[in-house]
Amino acid sequence: RLLSPSPGPLAGKKIIVTSGPTHEPIDPVRYIANRSSGKQGHAIAAALAELGAEVRLVSGPVGTSDPATVHAVHVETAREMMEAVRAELPADAAIFVAAVADWRSEAAAGEKIKKKPGAEPPVLRMVENPDILATIGHDSQRPYLVIGFAAETHDLLANAKAKLKKKGADLIVANDVSAEGGAMGGDLNRVSIVSTAGVEEWPQMSKEEVARRLARLVAERLKTIEV
Ligand code: CTP
Ligand code: CA
Repeated sequence: RLLSPSPGPLAGKKIIVTSGPTHEPIDPVRYIANRSSGKQGHAIAAALAELGAEVRLVSGPVGTSDPATVHAVHVETAREMMEAVRAELPADAAIFVAAVADWRSEAAAGEKIKKKPGAEPPVLRMVENPDILATIGHDSQRPYLVIGFAAETHDLLANAKAKLKKKGADLIVANDVSAEGGAMGGDLNRVSIVSTAGVEEWPQMSKEEVARRLARLVAERLKTIEV
């Protein structure tokens, strides 16, 4: 059982959050992954619940536990994450924090791939995964507020602005992942909030503080649709 919903500016709002990496199988014992820890996504889920939201956290494989105040769904692959998000619609808002694998192995082997004496190493052919944010951003059941992240190592703001449009998002949280000890896996984050209205740069802070500020921003945005 979840803790009873706390009163707050997000009471009565259902919000989907994706978090963590996805794992894409190569064979039964091997997979392709990335450095996402799920810290930022999980912190956002907890911060939204703190403001009273009913949170559906769709999480890839992470080392951290689920916040006790959210309803968590665990998935491994991008395709499973896509299905799990769809199953939670309709929702008032959705925040796509997960570092979804862009590609998967075209055909995961059913049995462990073995070394063969004298043979060449296997070649993996990759195919593209569904883009969960872009799919939901353009869906007929699109939540009122759709927020994406942009993980970039270069041309941060230009790339984030392009993603805003391409993915049908209302806001993109732009994240420089090139910094040593930074965003990917670390405890601190420095983000910029990109919308059609412009760019708002936030100073470097803990992932919990980014989460609390983002949750307040979500509450502001959802307040404007109340009658
Ligand atoms: N995203 C998603 N599904 C994917 C890929 C990305 O939902 N298959 C979401 C991420 O959760 C994030 C946003 O899209 O909110 C941007 O992810 P990012 O990896 O920065 O962008 P991509 O569109 O995948 O482009 P690239 O990796 O080439 O920069
Ligand atoms: Ca990507």
